[in-house]
Amino acid sequence: MMETVHVDLADRSYDIHIGQGLLGRAGEFLAPMLSRPRVAILTDENVAALHLETLQTALAKDGIESVALTLPAGESTKAWPQFTRAVEWLLDQKVERNDIVVALGGGVIGDLAGFAAAVLRRGVRFVQIPTSLLAQVDSSVGGKTGINAPHGKNLIGAFHQPSLVLCDVDVLGTLTPRDFLAGCGEVVKYGMLGDASFFEWLEENGSAMADGDIGARIHAVKRSCEMKADIVARDETEQGDRALLNLGHTFCHALEAATGYSDRLLHGEGVAIGCALAFETSMRLGLCSQEDPSRVRALLKSMGMKTDLADIDGDLPDADALLDLMGQDKKVVDGKLRFIMARSIGDAFVTSDVDRSVVHAVLSDGLVQR
Ligand code: GLY
Repeated sequence: MMETVHVDLADRSYDIHIGQGLLGRAGEFLAPMLSRPRVAILTDENVAALHLETLQTALAKDGIESVALTLPAGESTKAWPQFTRAVEWLLDQKVERNDIVVALGGGVIGDLAGFAAAVLRRGVRFVQIPTSLLAQVDSSVGGKTGINAPHGKNLIGAFHQPSLVLCDVDVLGTLTPRDFLAGCGEVVKYGMLGDASFFEWLEENGSAMADGDIGARIHAVKRSCEMKADIVARDETEQGDRALLNLGHTFCHALEAATGYSDRLLHGEGVAIGCALAFETSMRLGLCSQEDPSRVRALLKSMGMKTDLADIDGDLPDADALLDLMGQDKKVVDGKLRFIMARSIGDAFVTSDVDRSVVHAVLSDGLVQR
């Protein structure tokens, strides 16, 4: 079974294929796109050990020669030194303007490889083969590419859409339960921001999906990609609606900064906690019903996800310090922090009009429960 989601962006349109065994069929999908039978793959050490041979064998089966550069795993790879190494390696490999770069990995590799493709010879095509749930439902789709600066995450980059995304749900079976559940934070986010019936579906099927049900995983990845594709088609460069995808992220970025971007808090875990805090704030502002934040927290908990500030191990700074960290978020416009708030589950909106004292109270109450 294979599902396809089309991202409709005029001459930058592309397909996202979602299904089982797609890694082993990669040659079949790539061959018609190539002007010569050769690709350059960027990956990381962890992913290479698990999946690189399968990919290269699949490409060879369709007569495609491949070369691969394996970078260190981890967020610190997403910075100038490994980026420079990757771009210069692509030039060493004589990757030409009409060739394709393949990103095989999670969000770090996808973002770095996409940015490398964006600047190499002023832009070459690239194909995303995302291997984490988070990358399959979020970072591989929509063309945000880039690396981190000492000043903050994702501050250097470009919009550069992939030419194809292959989401093989079988590779999700190689993730640790913690990494898989972190990716679920982004999946649940789509229901909360724009599709109440998907949220209800997750209330019914979220646990089965987390436990490994393949049909449920395909549906969850497909529905997430559909929602992202729809938003990106409306607002490719985040002038408006695309900011909805940042539901929970203003809280999340402050929590990630407070925990030193370490494995105390994975990004998707911060998104889940951030979404719960966003709904709590929306409720206290009188925007949504009292029931909504409880439903959000109940779903996250039923899937085994982190839900509250109390679920973060170790010390956290106080509410004032967390609010200051939120102020450094790159979504600050004209000095005003933009929040994604909700009128109900499935109906989020962007606003700069959020009373700081309400956010302070939500954070203080959450910290007291720790
Ligand atoms: N991850 C948010 C976006 O792609 O806009």
